[in-house]
Amino acid sequence: MTAILEARAVTKRFGVDGPPAVDGLDLAVAPGAGVGIVGESGSGKSTLARMLAGVLPPTSGEIAVGGRPWTAVDRRDQLRRRVQMIFQDPYGALNPWLSARDAVAEVIRFWDRPTRAEARERASQLLADMGLTADAMGRRPRGLSGGQCQRVGIARALACAPDVLIADEPTSALDVSVQAQILNLLVALREERGLAIVLISHDLAVVRHLTEDAAVMYAGRIVERAPTHEMFRSPAHPYTRLLVGSIPGMSGGEARTAHDPGVADHPCRFAPRCPRRADDCIAVRSHDPHLPGGRWAECVHPHLPAAAPVQRTQTQHGGRT
Ligand SMILES: Nc1ncnc2c1ncn2[C@@H]1O[C@H](COP(=O)(O)OP(=O)(O)OP(=O)(O)O)[C@@H](O)[C@H]1O
Ligand code: SF4
Ligand SMILES: [Mg+2]
Repeated sequence: MTAILEARAVTKRFGVDGPPAVDGLDLAVAPGAGVGIVGESGSGKSTLARMLAGVLPPTSGEIAVGGRPWTAVDRRDQLRRRVQMIFQDPYGALNPWLSARDAVAEVIRFWDRPTRAEARERASQLLADMGLTADAMGRRPRGLSGGQCQRVGIARALACAPDVLIADEPTSALDVSVQAQILNLLVALREERGLAIVLISHDLAVVRHLTEDAAVMYAGRIVERAPTHEMFRSPAHPYTRLLVGSIPGMSGGEARTAHDPGVADHPCRFAPRCPRRADDCIAVRSHDPHLPGGRWAECVHPHLPAAAPVQRTQTQHGGRT
């Protein structure tokens, strides 16, 4: 199926020194897909998210939306509304001077140019769909809870009628009791609106709950991709095993970022931490990363996924006549 959103060999450097924050990465998001991106702090997840959303230009490579590069999509192009983002800090993402209703109406007016009254009415409906009371809709962010602000952020994104929602740690700043509500809201939105979602999270349980495909980032690169349940059942890359084995804290040893010494020198960025490292690991960049079952791992010595149990048929088992 044609991707709605596609990153092709995308690299982002913030300075002249050191390795890039995102390093030659490819990712395709199909209509309605649920893609989870996990990885420890500093691995480049938010940088990738901002490039996918078209708010941060790559240093090299290209992000295409609906087949067109972001660089060819100007601020008012209708294509721009197709990819929307929600953020970790729901307060910070909102204008402190606008009520929830006006914050959503502003987006509707920008894209569709209805009358002011019509925009407010549509905004009220959208906020009601997100579970906000009429009273809360009239309040500014400082009068709302974190969960309510995140609902406003989601309503602003939906006001654009997007095809893809990029959610960067959408629940990590919220109280535990509210996190589940926001996650359930995102699950319902995917079902009702056929939205694709790119979910970035430290919390592997969240990715497991909300996505069908997962990618693991380490030091700016995707090191493993697999259907989400397969990834959790039998992680192939040594780093993924570390992550999966360390739920929920995910510390799993010494944290390293793309800027740590020793990481950049080896062709495999994970080599300094890897318990399976061998002499031939220097071939990682030329190694075929494809694994059985459509999986993928950037590793010379992956843990091969366990084969699914074979269902023996009557003919195979006792079919001799
Ligand atoms: N605006 C910036 N200027 C300079 N360096 C940056 C900037 N944004 C990110 N970086 C660097 O790029 C690397 C990746 O950062 P990024 O925020 O994408 O990681 P992350 O995976 O989202 O981390 P976290 O899980 O903590 O949110 C880090 O080393 C970070 O310091
Ligand atoms: S290529 Fe080698 S060092 Fe890198 S993750 Fe795989 S086994 Fe470890
Ligand atoms: Mg981040």
